[in-house]
Order: sequence, then C-alpha cells, then structure tokens
Amino acid sequence: MSSETYPPEADTRLRAEAAEIISRYPEPRSALLPMLHLVQSEDGFVSPRGIALCADILGLTRAEVSAVATFYTQYKRHPNGDYTVGVCTNALCAVMGGDIIFERVSEHLGIGHDETTADGKITLEQVECNAACDYAPVVMVNWEFFDNQTPTSAIDLVDQITAGEPVRPTRGADTVATFKEISHVLAGFEDGRANEGVGAGEATLLGLRIARENGWRAPQVRDDSRGDGQAQGKTASGGPATTTPGVDLAGATASGTVPVGEVQSSAERKPTTEADVSAETVDKDVKKEAQ
Ligand code: FES
Repeated sequence: MSSETYPPEADTRLRAEAAEIISRYPEPRSALLPMLHLVQSEDGFVSPRGIALCADILGLTRAEVSAVATFYTQYKRHPNGDYTVGVCTNALCAVMGGDIIFERVSEHLGIGHDETTADGKITLEQVECNAACDYAPVVMVNWEFFDNQTPTSAIDLVDQITAGEPVRPTRGADTVATFKEISHVLAGFEDGRANEGVGAGEATLLGLRIARENGWRAPQVRDDSRGDGQAQGKTASGGPATTTPGVDLAGATASGTVPVGEVQSSAERKPTTEADVSAETVDKDVKKEAQ
C-alpha cells in the first residue's frame, strides 16, 4: 500500500463518494467526520494517504485533518482487525462482569486494549457505555450488540470469529459486517440492513409496559417553545411561558415515539439564547420555581 496516494480507480471512486458526502452539508469541511469513516472503509484505518485525500478535497492541512482523527476513538491510527470486539467495562457492565470478561478474552486472545491479533481478525477494545445497560454485561462486535455476556460466551464468540464462522448479534442486524463494510455505512452509505432484527427488546421496554399497566404519567414539563396561548408566567428571557400537560405514557408514547411538535419532542425547541442563561434571568427563574 502506497503511503501517499491511492491507485487511480480508488482515487476516483473515493473522490466521487466524498463529493456525495459533502453535498449533504452547508459547509464542505463539516463532511470531514464521515469522510474519515470513508477512508477507513478503504484502508481499515485513517491512513496517511486518506488524511492527504481529505485535506486535498476540503482545503485543509494534513495537521488539521489529523487533529480531528486523533480526537475520536472510532478513528484508528493503525490497521484495525476485521472485527472490533468491544467489551463494555463502564460502571454497570463492570459490576455485572464486564471487567472479568475483558480480562478473560484478553488472556485468551493474547492481546490487550487496542491491540490486534496476528491474523488481523480481531481488535480488542475496552469500550464505554453503549446505552445497553439493560442487557449488561454487553460486548459489541463492530458496534452490533451481544447482550448478557459471560466470560465463556464471550470466548466462544471470539473463537467463532477467529474460525471465520458467522456470528449473530442478539439484537439489531442479523449478521455482523466487517470493519471496512461498517465504516462505509458510518460514512453515510446505507447497506439496506437498518431494519433487520429486533431493536428495543423486552428489558428496554419493561418500564414502559409497567407504566402503561399502571396508567402512570410523567410529571408536567415546562415547554417554552410553543407560544400557543398556554402562557403561564414568564420564561427566563421574559417571554411567555407555557405549561404543557403531563406525557400520557399509556397513550402519547404508545407507538414508542413522540411525534414531532408534541410534548417532549426536541425537534421544534428553540435554541437557548444568552438571555436564557444569564445569571440574572436564571436567578429570576429559580425564585419563580420556588414560589
Ligand atoms: S455500562 Fe455497559 S452498556 Fe451501559
């Protein structure tokens, strides 16, 4: 692999895909993050030639591109394995066995955090919370979920990957794509598998089910964004405030989503202004709440 340039076919293809990514943003440089995933889809890491390509296309220096690439852990500075096995060792997974799973898998593969097996199949990582705590301890393979793991099941999992056998996530997609394939998806090119498998499972929905069975509603929330005549008092910035009814968990969220523009939807919320967060207005609001 040349350290500086791509062969003509790859260069043309990558530039065409980069142009498609850039067209999605008002400012070309905003496309840098997905373009780095695009580089990883080609090289398996953020290579020097990938950095040079991004810099050339976006009119940035290589140092600027490198500064971004080194900030995020999803961008690899050395060749990644075909499968990133990420063991969650954040608080909840750790106490549920994540630490011991990482130790055992590390010992079994003979590699530590951010290291890759000699056959190039697996890169092992300790990862932070994957928002899957209800299935702790969780192992991710290329960001697909493997829930409720044990040291034994995790070792079986990496053995299957090493043997080239297909592995099936416990939720989400039916199979696990390779690091390069999933990097292409992260660059913004769909692989048509977004709707495969189960999304929210029983453990995730348990609280909602109990709330429905008991007719529980979330407490009233204050919504300053609607300005629809339900004014009660003043907002922090002096504008009209509205108080919206509590969210009906048995009804409004029956479909599992809150429609845009409805209670708790952030899609139409106005951005916070300086007036909202000045010491004077916050102080006023605190006093009002205390009354
Ligand atoms: S702590 Fe592991 S998924 Fe949240």
